[in-house]
Formats: sequence, C-alpha cells, structure tokens
Amino acid sequence: MKPSISNSSTSNVLIISYKNKRIPFHSSWLYERSKNKDIRDGETGQLLIEASDIKKNLKIISTKITNKKITIKFSDDTTHYYDVSELLMESIQTKIDNSDKKLWNNKNIKITKFNFKNYNNLMLKNILRTVDKYGFAYVKNIPITKNGIQSLSDDIGPIKRTNWGEIADIKSIANAYDLTMTSRNLENHTDNPYRFPTQGYIFLHCIKNSESGGENSLADGFNIAQKIKEKYKKTFNILTNYKTFFRYKDKDTCLENSCSLIELDDNKNVIQVRFNNRTEVLPYDTIENTKKYRDARKKFWNEITSEENNLIIKQEPGDMLIIDNYRIFHGRKGYIDRSNSRYFRQGYMDRDILQSKLNLLN
Ligand SMILES: [Fe+2]
Repeated sequence: MKPSISNSSTSNVLIISYKNKRIPFHSSWLYERSKNKDIRDGETGQLLIEASDIKKNLKIISTKITNKKITIKFSDDTTHYYDVSELLMESIQTKIDNSDKKLWNNKNIKITKFNFKNYNNLMLKNILRTVDKYGFAYVKNIPITKNGIQSLSDDIGPIKRTNWGEIADIKSIANAYDLTMTSRNLENHTDNPYRFPTQGYIFLHCIKNSESGGENSLADGFNIAQKIKEKYKKTFNILTNYKTFFRYKDKDTCLENSCSLIELDDNKNVIQVRFNNRTEVLPYDTIENTKKYRDARKKFWNEITSEENNLIIKQEPGDMLIIDNYRIFHGRKGYIDRSNSRYFRQGYMDRDILQSKLNLLN
C-alpha cells in the first residue's frame, strides 16, 4: 500500500495514511524540518532561520503527493518538498536500548584479539564495534614505544588532557599521588567518577609487565546491573537513585562529583556504572539511608568481584586494552617486580570522540 494524504488533514495538520495507520505532522514541525535552501544550509544541514519565529498559526494551503515526494505550500506563500519515507521514519518512535550490547561474564565471553600488524580501516571499524558491543577491545602488537597508544588512538580522535597530562605513566613510584602508581592490588573500579563528565574510554598499553602478578581484571558492569535488577529489585532502585559523592584532591586539584552508582536514561536503560572505593566519600545521611545504601553497595560489590563476572588478562608487551569506562569495571592484581620495570602507559578519550568515529565508520 502506497502512502497517501488523508482527507482528514487540516490546515494545521497533515495526515499521511500508510499501512492502516494515520500519522499526523504539525505544520510548524514540517516547516522547521524543511530542507529548503533558505531554511537549512545545504552543506551542514544546520538551521538558518530562528525556529521560534515560525508563526504559530502557520497554515498548510495545499499538498501534493507524487513519486515518494510531498509538496506543501504554506500560508507564508512558500513551497517545501519532503521525502515521504523520511517523514514516516521520523514518526517511528525509535526507543534507544542496550540491545546492541552483548552482556557477558567469564563463561560466555569470547575475546577477539586484533593484531595491529595487519591494521587497516576495516580493523579500526571492527575494534570500535567490539568496544561498543562488549565494552572493551584487545589489540596486540601496538608499537612498544612511549606513545605507542597514538598509533591507533590518532585515527579515532584526540586523547583527553587532564590535570595529569595526556598519555601518562602507570608504574610504581615513590610518594605516589594515586594508588595506581604503586604495586598494590587495585580493586575493580571505574576511573575518575569524581570528574564530570567522566572520561569515556581508557587506552591501557603494556610496555613491560611484571614477572609475577599484575594481571588485569575486567567485569561487565551492564551485565551485573541487569543481574541485580532481576534478582534484587530494591537494591537496584537504591543503586540507581542514591547520590553518593566522589572526590580527588591534591595540592593543585580538587575534583568532585555527586552521582549514583548506576545511572539510567529516560527509558530506564543503564547508561553508566561507577565504583571507586578509593575516592568515594560517603555523604552524611540518616542512619536508615546509610544502612540501605551500604547494603546495596555491598551486593553490587559482591557481583563486581565474583569470579564468574571477572575476566583475567595478563597483558604482554605491545598489548593494548581499550576499555569503556562507563560500562566495565577494571582492576589489577598486586605484583612483585624487584627491578621495578613494570611499565604501562594510559590515555583517556572522551565518549563523544570515539562514538563520533564509530558513527562515521558504521
Ligand atoms: Fe583504573
């Protein structure tokens, strides 16, 4: 059945009949979405007029439908052309969900190891798709140089500059400014929840690993959140609603953020998880609220650290992990390194930068 203009259309509302449905389009919306050259810039697609200036009582004077196109004449004596299928697509409420994500635990995940020696544009696309689907990607044979990360990251976008600089050392040092810079075990966490916005992705590149220990752990926060939602509804509600607090402070910096451990979008999809024991500063609250939150956090923690949910990877020189910091909890086992030569490099990237590249390649 071909789309047609319904007889019940009025001067304010165009109604398209299609597959037993009647889909209304308001005159002002149609005008604002017009692609006429004096309305929208042909090169950038950006609006040239002030949308608020479109008259409220703008009327549709005439309509004509031919060959997949609709021609509309408005009461300001202008004529506009629309693609019928584009209009119909716009009317379908596309509910964004996590269905394109593959939730995993250590029993059902199969790791793809990309070999950077064979790197090309197709591999870049597959790496980014893997990051988006599983929350991380594993790339081998990244050049073992100080800024080897950039041999791949430069093709995606700029590394985020923070108060610690751009690509930074991860190694054990005296008087560490952060526990990352020690040889101690690092419990599973997400990075820097005290920043707003928190950096979206972590590039973790191994230059040299320790002989003993130093394995990385990864756990899928979206899978854990889903499990908690199904098993412990009350706990899930606390973790999504209770605002805790994170702070990082040194002599030059004071970063603070108030947020929940599980964040949802308007459609109740999980869009971010957080856990960072080292920098959480539990806000003062009633005894009851504090108890409830601490109990919920404990349940979350049990899942974050459970063997079933954790994937253990010992990176070799040249191995790089790209980790979605809004989804994956990562940690590091303590290590013994008598010569203190374990050396990793780490860079961050903003969420929009990587997603932009993925959108372009898809
Ligand atoms: Fe970290």
